[in-house]
Amino acid sequence: MEQTLVLIKPDAFGAGHAGAILKLYEDAGFKIVAAKVMRMTEAIAAKHYVEHIGRPYYAALVEFMTSAPLMAIVLRGDDVIKKVRELNGATNPADAAEGTVRKLYAADKTHNAVHASDSPESSAREIPIFFSACEMFD
Ligand code: PPS
Repeated sequence: MEQTLVLIKPDAFGAGHAGAILKLYEDAGFKIVAAKVMRMTEAIAAKHYVEHIGRPYYAALVEFMTSAPLMAIVLRGDDVIKKVRELNGATNPADAAEGTVRKLYAADKTHNAVHASDSPESSAREIPIFFSACEMFD
């Protein structure tokens, strides 16, 4: 069964939207198989956002993601990678469709409430950055 990494970012987690966001995913039929509240370090950020190192927004992205606690989750289900990205909406909340997480809870392209893996390769790379095998459950 396919799985994806979701991060409820410091803006949405700090504002108390984690429960509402998790309900959207669960109501769509996806199972939470791992979850933790944690503070992202610069080392974790450099691993997770490796393909963004050197981009103009990288420093602001890391500053934001390490600024306060976030919630890391692994969701499992049919076609979960594509469907969760649809539920999240466009990276830029200005372009996000009505009812999506980013339309509801995000402010801008940096403070955009959630991250979700964009492919099976990304999911396989990202999940072990946040969870060991013994922290994940069927
Ligand atoms: S892009 O523009 O296609 O590279 O965007 P994407 O690959 O979907 O995600 C880029 C991640 O970097 C965060 N971020 C920004 N992206 C683009 N422009 C600016 N200014 C910017 N600031 C931050 C964006 O929120 C994406 O984070 P994740 O956690 O992957 O959703």
